[in-house]
Amino acid sequence: MQNHTTNKIEFELYHGDCLEILREFSENSVDMIFADPPYNLSNGGFTVHAGRRVSVNKGEWDKSKGLKKDWEFHLAWIQECRRVLNLMALFGSVVPITQFINVVSLYR
Ligand SMILES: C[S@@+](CC[C@H](N)C(=O)[O-])C[C@H]1O[C@@H](n2cnc3c(N)ncnc32)[C@H](O)[C@@H]1O
Repeated sequence: MQNHTTNKIEFELYHGDCLEILREFSENSVDMIFADPPYNLSNGGFTVHAGRRVSVNKGEWDKSKGLKKDWEFHLAWIQECRRVLNLMALFGSVVPITQFINVVSLYR
C-alpha cells in the first residue's frame, strides 16, 4: 500500500486499497465517508454521451469480476465503513439512484 500523508496541513491523504486502509482505522472513529466506488460497468457495453453512442470503458478497475465477486467487494467495503463510522455519521455515495437504493439496502 502506498501511503501519502502529511501533517503540515490539516488532512492526511491515503492512496491504496480502501479495504486495507479502512482496516487501519478503529471502530467509530470516522465522522463521514463520501464514496464513489467502481460500478463495474465497463464490460463492452455502450452509453450515450452528448447524443452519441460511445463505448463504456473506464478501465480495468471498472470491469466486472462476476456478480458474486463484485457483490463481495461492495459488501466488504460497506461493512468496513459501517465499522469505522461513528453514530453521528452520514453515509454518502455518488451513485445513480437505482444503485443508491441497492447500496442502502446493503448497508441495512
Ligand atoms: C467511479 S471511480 C471514482 C472517480 C472519482 N470520483 C473522480 O471523480 O475522478 C472509482 C475509483 O475507485 C478506484 N478503486 C477501485 N478499486 C479500489 C479499491 N479497492 N480501493 C480504492 N480505490 C479503488 C478506481 O481506481 C477508480 O479511480
